[in-house]
Amino acid sequence: MKVLVVGSGGREHALVWKIAQSPEVTAILAAPGSAAISELATCHDLSVSDLDGLVELARREAVDLVVVGPENPLCDGLADRLRQAGIATFGPSKLAARLETSKAFAKDFYARHNVPSARYGTFSDAAEAKAFLDQFEPPYVLKADGLAAGKGVVIVSDRAEAESEVDAFLSGKFGDASRTLVIEEFMAGEEVSIFALCDGDTVLYCGAAQDHKRVGEGDAGPNTGGMGAYSPAPIATPALIETTMKTIVEPVARGLAAEGSPFQGVLFAGLMVTAEGPKVVEFNIRFGDPECQVLMMRIETDILPYLQATATGKLADMPALSWTAEPAITVVMAAKGYPGSYEKGSVIGGVEAANKMEGVVVFEAGTARNADGERTANGGRVLNVTASGETLHYAVDRAYAAVDEIDWPEGFCRRDIAWRALKTH
Ligand code: AMP
Ligand code: GLY
Repeated sequence: MKVLVVGSGGREHALVWKIAQSPEVTAILAAPGSAAISELATCHDLSVSDLDGLVELARREAVDLVVVGPENPLCDGLADRLRQAGIATFGPSKLAARLETSKAFAKDFYARHNVPSARYGTFSDAAEAKAFLDQFEPPYVLKADGLAAGKGVVIVSDRAEAESEVDAFLSGKFGDASRTLVIEEFMAGEEVSIFALCDGDTVLYCGAAQDHKRVGEGDAGPNTGGMGAYSPAPIATPALIETTMKTIVEPVARGLAAEGSPFQGVLFAGLMVTAEGPKVVEFNIRFGDPECQVLMMRIETDILPYLQATATGKLADMPALSWTAEPAITVVMAAKGYPGSYEKGSVIGGVEAANKMEGVVVFEAGTARNADGERTANGGRVLNVTASGETLHYAVDRAYAAVDEIDWPEGFCRRDIAWRALKTH
């Protein structure tokens, strides 16, 4: 099977790494891919926003399956275009992707289908939004309606601050994404992410993970795209997974199909485990980054037939995925300054040595090679140092031993990834 992976980050590196292990794969293409991905796939220098170019590439190369990593091209309709061209695609349509693109759509959708989530209101008028705050106790949760690279959520305890945030959102704090604002009830609990493949009809559980969104140790500081993740998540017991599949994932899949936008790809349920059970914080319509990296480390089954079955409506024929019992963790190494401004181009040493360590794989999220062939930093989140081990403690120790092999003074990482799980073990 000839497979095209769209994207260039650590998530796509992990997907390509896993797909490359499939006995069924004959060739892997990536667009645009990266220097690291080019060691496993043929990279084509096309932007993920070049829908015409991507469809043309898939057609010209007669690929059997396209796997789309990031949300942006899906939200722009890449999967629709590929399917119209007769190409099997892992990734939802533009309509189904509204679950991630519009928080207002998503919240109304959960309400229509009785999917448990926080009470909310949607506003474009500041006075109405401020009045609505009366309905809640602090802390107040404010969200940009549109995509804001995982950063469009503000939680504040002070009422006056909440009101000034209302003004900031509606006057474009997150650009057009925040000209519509969602205000939500605060849900207390522990967060966990549950993933499920969905072929438009059938859903299949595809792993649980916890991530660390804040940049600083102890989960402090501004939100990021994710500073690390681990799987399994102790809180995701078999009972919690079953409840989530029945009360959240299945109704979402059925609801999307019933509304004429069946979902083909991976549903990423971001949950709050509250005293009343799991509730939706948000759905994403693609694998998490860096959650995907730990899932790919732990899935024992060949992933390719599952990606293909998802894209072709054949998941009902597939047995459950099998998993190693070994936990996995990924530590994100980011450029100093991230999630604010940071420099590109610093040289990174030691990745080869880290990769040679048992149970360690360094996925590259944002690297390039300079004229001397050296690895350089080329983004905010740069490396995903991923390790598995017999116990979570071993996996954590291995990951940080690998981090210590890496020579990159301009980078940093959190030293406490998986702290919550370690505490309960
Ligand atoms: P989101 O972008 O919707 O995932 O929100 C980012 C983060 O804000 C989540 O991971 C939660 O930690 C937090 N959050 C969002 N909505 C709520 C809520 N209603 N109650 C409590 N925390 C929330
Ligand atoms: N790590 C969170 C995300 O991919 O959205």
